[in-house]
Amino acid sequence: MPRRGFITGSYLFALAIVCAAPTARAAEADDSGIAELVKLLASVDDADFQFDLLKGILEGIKGRRDLKMPRAWPAAYTKLSKSSSAEVRSQARVLALAFGDPAALAELRKVLVDKAAKPDARRSALASLVQSGAKDLAPALHKLLDEPDMRSAALRALASYPHKATPGLIVGRYSILSTSEKQDAIGTLASRPSFALALLAAVEQKKIPAKDISAFTARQLLALGDEQVSGKLAKVWGTIRKSSDEATKLIAQYKKVYTPKFLKSADTSHGRLVFKKTCSQCHTLYGDGGKIGPDLTGSNRKNLDYVLQNALDPSAAVGNAYQMTTIITTAGRVISGIVQERTGSALTIQTANERVVLSLDDVEATKLSTVSMMPDGLLQKLTKEEVRDLLVYLATSDQVPLPEGADEQSGR
Ligand code: HEC
Repeated sequence: MPRRGFITGSYLFALAIVCAAPTARAAEADDSGIAELVKLLASVDDADFQFDLLKGILEGIKGRRDLKMPRAWPAAYTKLSKSSSAEVRSQARVLALAFGDPAALAELRKVLVDKAAKPDARRSALASLVQSGAKDLAPALHKLLDEPDMRSAALRALASYPHKATPGLIVGRYSILSTSEKQDAIGTLASRPSFALALLAAVEQKKIPAKDISAFTARQLLALGDEQVSGKLAKVWGTIRKSSDEATKLIAQYKKVYTPKFLKSADTSHGRLVFKKTCSQCHTLYGDGGKIGPDLTGSNRKNLDYVLQNALDPSAAVGNAYQMTTIITTAGRVISGIVQERTGSALTIQTANERVVLSLDDVEATKLSTVSMMPDGLLQKLTKEEVRDLLVYLATSDQVPLPEGADEQSGR
């Protein structure tokens, strides 16, 4: 298929007709424009022209949920779904779903469960089904949990369906999931109160490690606004509070400065260097760095809000596993860190820069703090350009090289 111009005449034409119809807000939307275009679709044979018409209609009906299927549609769809152009076939299917065409839905369901079909085709069928609000999909998704190629997509899709059996089926398979599947699993379990309670029960029963619940997920659970969930979260995961007014203001200020436009000018290699100097002592990213804080590789680090929240107000969400303890020794030394091991005779504590093993005989007092080991004000110490580069580096999908000659300069 030839490369198409950006916007062609027939596309604009279709869009204009659709948009000329009264908006969805009108009580009885007049969709005669769409009906005319569908008739036109059924009557032309040129694939480029069909494609442009389809795109124009789809653009014009974006966000509409009340669409009635035009009378000419089934015939048009039968024709379009036999088109030699894959683009035309796929756009036609999207439109069929927007019209709630039962033929298209049935076709997709068949592809979804067809083990002989290509995984890509099955996953895209799944995406279309979920997007079009297909009902009763959960039982089919449950079966897909045992197919490695489909598992991630099924785990994510299950968030859209409040099926009672879902949490049990996910928790039961949790230990065999890959790292990224685990994130999908937790994302879905955190998506509604009934699932969340099952998730927190699994954490309590140690079927899911508390460490797998990130600060991001913890906030998401709190945001469900369910008292039972919030109470259980505080018990099995750790402290979480709303950011203070001050922190909220600070986050808003940062968001004003770090606009997508400004972030575009970032230097990711330099960002890696900033990470190395300010964060990697405690955090691993792409297999490199310390283990005091959570590994950030699989975190929500591409989400600006999440990074700013955690970097500007670290103590708003602290998992029990990362709670700081302050220890006073009989010799008067004060040590702050995370207790990693406690035996009958000794205490192993990870401070920001060393692992200290203390004999219990030397411990005068220990005090658990709700403050994070992650220091406040880390970003405030950096220049505007350093923060920009760091944020964009955190949002990369793959490791980038350090700036040339950085190894010599980067020693702390
Ligand atoms: C002295 C150690 C330390 C340093 C330095 C540090 N962190 Fe942290 N960080 C932690 C600990 C411990 C946690 C877990 C407890 C918490 O959430 O506060 C954490 C949590 C986080 C989280 C949330 C992770 C999750 O569970 O979802 C993010 C994001 C983060 N840090 C980013 C950064 C960035 C970016 C830097 C560098 C500017 C940085 N940290 C520097 C110790 C550190």
